[in-house]
Amino acid sequence: MANKFQTNAIRGPINAFIFKMLSGYMDRLFGNSKRELFKNHPETVVEIGSGAGANMRYLKKGTRLIAIEPNIYMHNNLKKSAEKYGIDLEIKSLMGEAIDLPDASYDFVVCTLVLCTVHDPLQCLQQIKRILKPSGIFIFIEHVEARENTMLSFIQSLIHKPWHWFFEGCHTNRNTKQLLESVGFSKLELETYNLYSPFIPIIPQVHGSAIK
Ligand SMILES: C[S@@+](CC[C@H](N)C(=O)[O-])C[C@H]1O[C@@H](n2cnc3c(N)ncnc32)[C@H](O)[C@@H]1O
Repeated sequence: MANKFQTNAIRGPINAFIFKMLSGYMDRLFGNSKRELFKNHPETVVEIGSGAGANMRYLKKGTRLIAIEPNIYMHNNLKKSAEKYGIDLEIKSLMGEAIDLPDASYDFVVCTLVLCTVHDPLQCLQQIKRILKPSGIFIFIEHVEARENTMLSFIQSLIHKPWHWFFEGCHTNRNTKQLLESVGFSKLELETYNLYSPFIPIIPQVHGSAIK
C-alpha cells in the first residue's frame, strides 16, 4: 500500500470545488437512502473520506463528527459545512487505511463514495471494523463494477483511465460488494441497484449497513 496520501495541486482543489458544487445534486440523488441509513445515528459519528461534507445535512445538529479526510483541499469546505449544519467537527488528515482511533470505541461509522478511491479498500474496511464497538454499525453507499458484458461495464472500462486520473484514484469498476463480504462483519445487509444519473460510470451501486 502507498501509505502516504497524495493529492495533485491542481486536481485536488478542482475536485474540492466540484464536490462542493455537486452537494445539492447529490442530495437529490442520494438523499432518500441517506436519510434512511443515517436516521438512528448516535451523538458521535466517524466518517471516512468526508469530502466537502455532503453528509452533514443528514446528521442531527450538535453531532460530533470525526472526519477522516486526507485531502487537505477538502478541509475548508468541511469546516464551512460544519458551521452551516451545526456539527461539532474534528478533522483528521489521515487515510482510512491508517486510522489512529482506538479499538472498539465507536457506534457508527459512515463511508459514501470512498471505497472506490482508497488505495487499499480491504485495509480500510478492516480499520473500520477495528474501531467499531461490538454492536457498532457501518453505513455505506458506494459505486461498484457493473455486471460483466453489459453496456455499463463497457463504459466503465472505456472511461476508467481518465476518470481515475481526474478523480485522483477513483476506480470506476471495483468489486466493493465482494470486499464488504470478505471482511467478516457479523451481519451485512446490502442492496445492489442502478442509480441512473448523467454520471454513467457510477450508475451501478451498493448500499447498506454492517454490524461488527
Ligand atoms: C468521491 S469523494 C466522496 C466524498 C463524500 N464522502 C461524498 O459522499 O460526497 C471521495 C473522498 O475520499 C477521500 N479519500 C481518498 N482516498 C482516501 C483514503 N485513502 N482514506 C480516506 N479518504 C480518502 C477523498 O479525499 C475524497 O474526499
